[in-house]
Amino acid sequence: MPAIAPSGLTTIKGFHHAWEGDLLASTLLDQSLHRIRVRDGRVVYNEPIRIGTRIRAVHQHTTGEIVLWSDEGELIFLTAEDIDSDEEQLQNFMTAVGLSPGEQNDLATAIANCTQCHALDSGANRGAPSLARAYGADIASTDFENYSDALDRVGGQWTHANLTAFLTDPQSFAPGTTMPPLPDASPDLVENIVSYLKHVDAQY
Ligand code: HEC
Repeated sequence: MPAIAPSGLTTIKGFHHAWEGDLLASTLLDQSLHRIRVRDGRVVYNEPIRIGTRIRAVHQHTTGEIVLWSDEGELIFLTAEDIDSDEEQLQNFMTAVGLSPGEQNDLATAIANCTQCHALDSGANRGAPSLARAYGADIASTDFENYSDALDRVGGQWTHANLTAFLTDPQSFAPGTTMPPLPDASPDLVENIVSYLKHVDAQY
């Protein structure tokens, strides 16, 4: 409540990897689409996307575009614009937070090391859990199947402090973890890595 007057519902497939498998509901009263993510039978979030007109129906076309049918009889086509590549996102982040050239170099080297094993988006799996939503998530909670018992046992969440402790010294945070120590775990660099994980989390 208040009622949004839902009028249609569809599952999104192959539109954009960040929306893969989500539900899209159209509404009349609310003049919005709602992107709904369901995990393990529960809604984990519901993002209202304002369109500004009453929507009668939502449908995904064979071209992959999402088509909305408005109350005025208009068809509205939605297409996906690619979010920036990993490299562009990292560069934008470093410029935005004002890292010095030396710090930028260290962070780019460190992140290039992470991505040998980890994906930074939620679609891919490279023999290590995706880091797309790591910041703030429950520890060892992605669909990655090969977590060590060591990490599984830790419990709790990837808070800023837990991420800092883990990246500084994986073995003292979770003795027996299969995550190797970083080649360079100096405090300033670890702080920048954790800030970047927080930024990545906000993108997906
Ligand atoms: C050589 C491969 C490798 C590299 C390089 C690596 N990791 Fe990992 N990482 C792993 C593995 C394997 C795990 C799972 C550990 C376990 O289950 O004990 C893991 C786990 C994690 C987790 C916990 C994820 C979760 O779902 O709970 C985080 C966070 C993480 N790594 C961050 C990083 C960051 C940041 C970097 C780069 C600075 C990095 N890792 C570099 C292999 C790697």
